[in-house]
Amino acid sequence: MKINFFNIVGYYQFMIENLMKDDMVAVDCTAGNGNDTLFLCNIMKGKGKVFAFDVQEEAVKATTELLEGNCPYDNYVIIKDCHSKIGDFIDGPIDLAVFNLGYLPNSKSEVSTTFDTTLKSVEAALEILRKKGYIFIAAYLGHDDSTERNSLFEYLSCLDSKKYKVANHRLINTNNYPPELFIIQKMHDTF
Ligand SMILES: C[S@@+](CC[C@H](N)C(=O)[O-])C[C@H]1O[C@@H](n2cnc3c(N)ncnc32)[C@H](O)[C@@H]1O
Repeated sequence: MKINFFNIVGYYQFMIENLMKDDMVAVDCTAGNGNDTLFLCNIMKGKGKVFAFDVQEEAVKATTELLEGNCPYDNYVIIKDCHSKIGDFIDGPIDLAVFNLGYLPNSKSEVSTTFDTTLKSVEAALEILRKKGYIFIAAYLGHDDSTERNSLFEYLSCLDSKKYKVANHRLINTNNYPPELFIIQKMHDTF
């Protein structure tokens, strides 16, 4: 995969492809149409494990169909539930969690991620994340008066820098609300 700094999904997938090993455990916290889940499964090559969460039946169906038609491995679990309940399904440790926030693409559904549950989910994912593990979050300005992105920015900015490294990557010369990326690495052990 070639790097593309200006396409947020392509950018985090490039980094994930370079960071992940095939025996790791990854969580797609917003399965949507299943593209990230399929991407993670292909990296794992049947050895590690991929968990995918989505609250919407439509998304779970789309992800299931995409994987059944395109993934030669069966090392994945698709869970129809809120990502804030990640700790109810996974004891950890996990090596990676990825969030692509917002609405289900190409759908009429008005269901979107919201800061309250996104925050609970990020906290839960940080708890079960292995030392040196990563969380990638693609967030969008605009869709909810930027509340989710701005609240997330506040929360992540205040994480203890001895315990977590946090980076923020965004396009700054366009005004059509491009997505931006938060990258968090856990620097301490909880297992
Ligand atoms: C931008 S889409 C994700 C795109 C996806 N990663 C892909 O590759 O197609 C965001 C998804 O988050 C889901 N979502 C919204 N609130 C959620 C929640 N509380 N827990 C889990 N998923 C949620 C939506 O249903 C939607 O499918």
